[in-house]
Amino acid sequence: MSKHISDKTVRNASQNTPFSEILERSMTRRAVMRGGLAAALATMSSFGLAGCDSSSTGGNSTDNGGENPNPGPGPDPEPPASVKLGFESLPTSMTDGCVVPPGYIAHVLAPWGTPINDNALPWDKNGNNSSNDLLNSMGMHHDGMHFFPLEGSSTEGLLAVNHEYIDEKALHPNGPTLVNGKRPAEEVRKEINAHGVAIIHIRRTNGRWDIVQNSRYNRRFTSATAMKLAGPVGGTDWVKTPFSPNGTQVRGTNNNCGNGTTPWGTYITAEENWAACFVNTGIRPPHQQRVGVSAGPVGRYQWETAAKDPSEVLGEFARFNVTETGASATEDWRNEVNGFGYLVEIDPYDPSSIATKRTSMGRFAHEGCAYSKPEAGKPLAFYSGDDSRFEYVYRFVSEANWDPKDAQRTDRLAVGAKYLDKGTLYVARFNEDGSGEWLALTGSTKGKDGGTLADKFKTLEEILINTRGAADFVGATPMDRPEWTATHPSNGDIYLTLTNNTSRNASTGTNPANPRLNNVNGHIIRWHDEPGSNKFKWDIFVFGSDSGADADTNRSGLTDLNQLASPDGLGFDSRGILWIQTDNGIDGGRKNNVARATNDQMLAVIPGALADSSGTGPAINASNQSDLRRFFVGPNEAEITGFSMTPDHTSLFLNIQHPVNWPAYDTHDATVVSMNTVRPRSSTVVIQRADGKPIAV
Ligand code: FEO
Ligand code: CA
Ligand code: CA
Ligand code: CA
Repeated sequence: MSKHISDKTVRNASQNTPFSEILERSMTRRAVMRGGLAAALATMSSFGLAGCDSSSTGGNSTDNGGENPNPGPGPDPEPPASVKLGFESLPTSMTDGCVVPPGYIAHVLAPWGTPINDNALPWDKNGNNSSNDLLNSMGMHHDGMHFFPLEGSSTEGLLAVNHEYIDEKALHPNGPTLVNGKRPAEEVRKEINAHGVAIIHIRRTNGRWDIVQNSRYNRRFTSATAMKLAGPVGGTDWVKTPFSPNGTQVRGTNNNCGNGTTPWGTYITAEENWAACFVNTGIRPPHQQRVGVSAGPVGRYQWETAAKDPSEVLGEFARFNVTETGASATEDWRNEVNGFGYLVEIDPYDPSSIATKRTSMGRFAHEGCAYSKPEAGKPLAFYSGDDSRFEYVYRFVSEANWDPKDAQRTDRLAVGAKYLDKGTLYVARFNEDGSGEWLALTGSTKGKDGGTLADKFKTLEEILINTRGAADFVGATPMDRPEWTATHPSNGDIYLTLTNNTSRNASTGTNPANPRLNNVNGHIIRWHDEPGSNKFKWDIFVFGSDSGADADTNRSGLTDLNQLASPDGLGFDSRGILWIQTDNGIDGGRKNNVARATNDQMLAVIPGALADSSGTGPAINASNQSDLRRFFVGPNEAEITGFSMTPDHTSLFLNIQHPVNWPAYDTHDATVVSMNTVRPRSSTVVIQRADGKPIAV
């Protein structure tokens, strides 16, 4: 998210209010007590953290996310009983460079504009690179990311990196231009090519990671790359366009924020704030209004204004104007926008493979995607948040049962089709008593005000195109901006960041899962699905807060050493360490005291199991908060996002997004503060220990 593309408009007019929430509002006093000091006392005996948890469950050994070239759910060791954080929490920092604990080093890897092959000129610090350079270089604004080892290596692999959005001012020599009301075609192509996903082959030599130039694996997906539309929406009237009259393809993936992986070794990139790239100056259908397609006069980047440039190919610019002007869907671009808003599957190991949009998993502002702990013979579940104020969290359950042999197959996108094209999409309702229910977005599901979903939407594809509208109808719980999900590697608990929501006020009210008004700090919730059912149990893991806040705000008792706000990126490593990243400085609008105290950061904690806690949390409270430790602080204004590690845990990859004067020129040391003004570049940072040992323990 960002200052440029963050959409503060509340588009959920339904304001679903389950009965439990009404009850909750009438019990405000109780909520305050439960969340405040009383919570600390009440949960002291239930222990939310592993450090105090004597009953860590065994669990089956399963894969943790595609960490070898033909990855299988082969043994993923249980976190050793002795796993403990072996670093001291960092103090807050407002330094314009990266800060790591003593004994650690941080290198800049693959900043925006770094060539990945010889078809690009080197990055130009005056902004003069061409659109073709960008097509063969790292894109802008790195976000979700995953390291895919080659043959199990911890020194060589493929890094998949999302390029969420662009800083037009930094991208062009003097920012974006308009000539007679039109964006120049070359500028638009450059912007389109700065978006998308990069797959880069990387190798560690003498302690330094670098791109293997011209590797056959190196490739870029941009907002113009042809992709398949699979699942129920693919091939329907909803997605027929002049480019794809049979509705099976669309060009580009846009505003890719968080990511996921699959048990069979593919990458999932999540399309988040794509809607406003499109403009409709005519009548916007409800589904376009509900996702925020621009009503005009122009789209976010005005790409559509380059239409009719003599060099335009197959409506490459015109397609961003989805106003109905022709006699049918193949004579204008009305359906172009219906090809966006999905989770997109990429096989990083097969350079000739085509990225595939899995439409069965819903169409909304996808933040990321975590999969449930795979169990042989049982369906797989995938969880994805919809990052906007008062939007929902979703679960997709495969129709096929998991066959561990599929993790070894090399036709990975065929495996993807098996598990991701057929299944059921659900949306979450959280109840006050710590229980919850997944509501199926299928025709027979009853609406909260009567009728069934089939009365409102005739087909499954219509439900999926209108995912938010369908979720409104069945009475899902409106959340405080769902961002990343992450799955505990041994106990299978699912964690979700709820980044913040300053629009939650007296008229919208609170609900049990989002209990604070004017939630400027955000929180993290977790749940555990009941096997074979649509029920789950949940609690709140931690409430963001500044250390000086009152007890009703600082419900987790955070101190100067772990105060945090606007949690966003989230990931477990296979040892069971949870890594929490923040997007607070700008996205939080500097509306909280944490933004005044520190730059964005990454913290680590070793959680216990939800099954061992009681009530609705918070699991982190005054009795155990010191086990949540700050590991990293980023440069000024930058968000910390994207998380992955090598299998041996000796290298940790994260992304610095939208810095303002970083990284310093002529050094690979990410901790260096520039003495001059530099053209800022989002970048991956690799953290290692100087002694080469595993990180954090
Ligand atoms: Fe792109 Fe929701 O952060
Ligand atoms: Ca964010
Ligand atoms: Ca971001
Ligand atoms: Ca994010």
